[in-house]
Amino acid sequence: MSVLRGVSFALTERRVALVGANGSGKSTVLRCLNALVTPTAGRVLLDLPGADGSPGGTVDPARSPAVARSMVGFVFTDPDAQVVMPTPAEDVALSLRRLRLPRAERDARVAAALDHVGLADRADVPVHDLSSGQRQLLAVAAVLATGPRLLVLDEPTTLLDRRNTRLVRRTVDEVRVPVVLATHDLELAASCDRVLVVEDGRVVADGAPGPTLTAYRDLMDAT
Ligand SMILES: Nc1ncnc2c1ncn2[C@@H]1O[C@H](COP(=O)(O)OP(=O)(O)OP(=O)(O)O)[C@@H](O)[C@H]1O
Ligand SMILES: [Mg+2]
Repeated sequence: MSVLRGVSFALTERRVALVGANGSGKSTVLRCLNALVTPTAGRVLLDLPGADGSPGGTVDPARSPAVARSMVGFVFTDPDAQVVMPTPAEDVALSLRRLRLPRAERDARVAAALDHVGLADRADVPVHDLSSGQRQLLAVAAVLATGPRLLVLDEPTTLLDRRNTRLVRRTVDEVRVPVVLATHDLELAASCDRVLVVEDGRVVADGAPGPTLTAYRDLMDAT
């Protein structure tokens, strides 16, 4: 069974949102970006500048999954799929491990990442004592701390209150790297530069948030 069919687009905007019905294919598109899903036909190419702004070259995640995963920071919808260590500080430290930083720098990055999402005072509590929204923020913090060259967020605000939703929106605005996210939060989608509406494995509207989100609302309300 094909999940996606005839999906073809080039993303050059800094903030791109995918919206669409449950099961329409948004997460599948995102998963192609870091080789969690490999297309059976067609291909995905990443062309991301280097960390210092230098040209990064083109990477095909299907051919070079490890390279793609080192470039793409992926935040899952379900934080429990991602948060694996006993405490927040250890979890962020784990995601930093492959950077092989000196201990002091690693600790500073862990502290800054937790502080950014308001979890500085929860650094050493058991992860299971965090609320589910706090775990979602921890997952975002752990991925951001690694300094990804592309940030992919799959429904990053589903568990969050209004204030923390705003924090995530501000983070999306402020990170310097491109962001591709899937969301049912139409305010978050509206704050992006471009919105793609996914329906039944196809892109049925694509462009500025105003008209595409109107098209999405009409689509949802009509059925
Ligand atoms: N590995 C898989 N094998 C078979 N079918 C899959 C697989 N992954 C996803 N699907 C199916 O593909 C379709 C699209 O799923 P996807 O997770 O991309 O939807 P989505 O748009 O992210 O939905 P939601 O808003 O509920 O998160 C669904 O019908 C799903 O059941
Ligand atoms: Mg999904």
